[in-house]
Amino acid sequence: MKGKKVFVADCQKGDILAQDVFLSNGVLLITRNSLINEYIIERLSEHRIEEVNILQQIESSSSLMREYTKGIEKINGIFKRLIAGERMDVSEVDKIAGRLVPYLDQPSSVAACLSDVRVKDEYTYAHSVNVAFYSLIIAKWLGLSRHDCRKAVQAGLLHDVGKLLIPDSILNKPGRLTDKEFTMIKQHPLLGYNLLAQIPNLSQEVREAALLHHERLDGQGYPTQTPLGQVGILSRIVAVADVFDSMTTDRIYKKAVNPFEAFEMFASTGLSQFDPFVLNTFLVRMPSCYTGSKVQLSSGEEGEIVYVPPYRILSPIVKINAEYRELGPFHQTKIIKLAI
Ligand SMILES: [Fe+2]
Repeated sequence: MKGKKVFVADCQKGDILAQDVFLSNGVLLITRNSLINEYIIERLSEHRIEEVNILQQIESSSSLMREYTKGIEKINGIFKRLIAGERMDVSEVDKIAGRLVPYLDQPSSVAACLSDVRVKDEYTYAHSVNVAFYSLIIAKWLGLSRHDCRKAVQAGLLHDVGKLLIPDSILNKPGRLTDKEFTMIKQHPLLGYNLLAQIPNLSQEVREAALLHHERLDGQGYPTQTPLGQVGILSRIVAVADVFDSMTTDRIYKKAVNPFEAFEMFASTGLSQFDPFVLNTFLVRMPSCYTGSKVQLSSGEEGEIVYVPPYRILSPIVKINAEYRELGPFHQTKIIKLAI
């Protein structure tokens, strides 16, 4: 990603740094993919850096929002026809994937869009499209080909298709599930796989992601207890995307956590559960997608995330009034809510 060379003075808010910026002594000052804002411009000017390589945002967030809403409508229709016993046409799913793939170069816009619009729709449909988007950008960060990125979107869209066969009264039960109900829920990967196995022309890896997205690294997942290291890359990607979306979405039986709380949980317990390469890539890249997000803090103040150091992802720098403050596990002030 080379980008275009511009004077720092000419940088526009919303541009993206195309290359890492180092000081003359070799210290990394700001990492590539950071969103240009006042904080970044101040840091660059302070160190007398005059030129940087930037990329301009290609698509507006409104077109992304349109595709997102359209994706939910389409998947809603496909799923409803599937429940009614009609055969799924793979080309329809692939068409949705094809429309989302161009956004793989805009992870920040995707994060902003998903934080903004989530849970306005029926959960399974919105969750499927959210997981498809997250899977797409993780696949891109992992360096998968455009063709495989498209399959990652299909895998995200279809991973929970087996839930269509579980009664709503169990899926959306407000209270604690009985053992019997939990056993039923745990059947959804196999039900989904069996449903997708009947559909011609669908990639076997996509079918497997429906079967294996709840498997875990230590073999303690379900339904097959296959250690995650032995399953395909799409299943390992969808496993992270699925849990991140579930944690950050309000459900009838649990409150959402904000993305930074989710990153903290992933960082503390995720390495025993998820593919380390997929998880580390996600944790290094995803937090900076929230640069520009408005946040409510535990101190009662409001602020805006201006930079997330990629190797200190739990310590975002937040602008509060005119002051830049570093948050994080060793500071009292925490992010309690994100509003983009
Ligand atoms: Fe699932």
